[in-house]
Amino acid sequence: MHTPVLAREVIRFLRCRQGDITIDCTVDGGGHAEAILRACGESGRLIGFDWDDEAIAAARERLAPFGDRVELHHDSFVQGLQALAPNFANLVAGILFDIGVSAAQIERGERGMSYRHEGPLDMRMDRRSTKTARTLIDNSSWQDLARIIRRYGEEPRARTIARRIALAHQRRPIESTAELARIIEQSVPRPFRNKALARTFQAIRIAVNDELEEFEQGLRAAFPLLRIGGRLVVISYHSLEDRIAKETFRRWAVGCTCPPGLPQCICGGQSRFKILTPRPARPTSGETMSNPRARSAKLRAGERLG
Ligand SMILES: C[S@@+](CC[C@H](N)C(=O)[O-])C[C@H]1O[C@@H](n2cnc3c(N)ncnc32)[C@H](O)[C@@H]1O
Repeated sequence: MHTPVLAREVIRFLRCRQGDITIDCTVDGGGHAEAILRACGESGRLIGFDWDDEAIAAARERLAPFGDRVELHHDSFVQGLQALAPNFANLVAGILFDIGVSAAQIERGERGMSYRHEGPLDMRMDRRSTKTARTLIDNSSWQDLARIIRRYGEEPRARTIARRIALAHQRRPIESTAELARIIEQSVPRPFRNKALARTFQAIRIAVNDELEEFEQGLRAAFPLLRIGGRLVVISYHSLEDRIAKETFRRWAVGCTCPPGLPQCICGGQSRFKILTPRPARPTSGETMSNPRARSAKLRAGERLG
């Protein structure tokens, strides 16, 4: 059973108490969810979302002992949070996003997420979606691909890699992770290959799942559900996601928006959010040694004020 990342910090920042309602937006196999349920006493409740059918099935099994204290939905967190809005606005004590790809998704070749595992060129987290990595490549020009690889992978050789992918695709469709990996390897000098592989696969996966747009919308949908004093905790694994969390938190935390130099505030703006992590919390070296996936994790937390 896989270990949740930064679990102790998640529990500390969520500050779970008896009777609380907590939402786990990315429940996966239920690691954090189980820790939250243990921390919030006999009367605490958890609502969990994941758009991956296998993840929800695993979470149902793991969390079965908690009975009706848990409600799990096979849904994107944007849809799930929006559906809760009419009944749960201003009521939720804590909301967790532990975003990105799960260990199970990466390790299963048939999900097509990793250049390390042979499989179909799929990369969907939500297998009800019709957009796969293969259809994305089928329907993109080399310029589109270059933009995706540059923007979501921050890969300096994005144009060269994209041209090679498009050229290979003209000869015949690219069907597997191994074929895509070979094309990327042939596009860049040997010392840069591993980084180019990781960045290009990450970029295409982010585009297939619209991960960054989902995350931005998810944060927007989460805020109004929190009660005053409710806590939001976000764990991210790369700079693009972390930037979204950091900038959103900052925007919410801004109070007065008067131009600098006025003798007193005339806008009356009040901060709606207190940032609890001026710098993100990071895993200890002990945690990264026992769980290498935690290596790049950053946790940001904040509290709703108004
Ligand atoms: C890093 S894992 C979460 C691990 C989990 N916290 C645990 O303790 O086991 C990320 C999970 O978020 C899910 N996910 C990512 N984006 C999502 C979205 N927009 N809606 C629903 N689930 C999402 C993925 O399917 C994946 O299972």
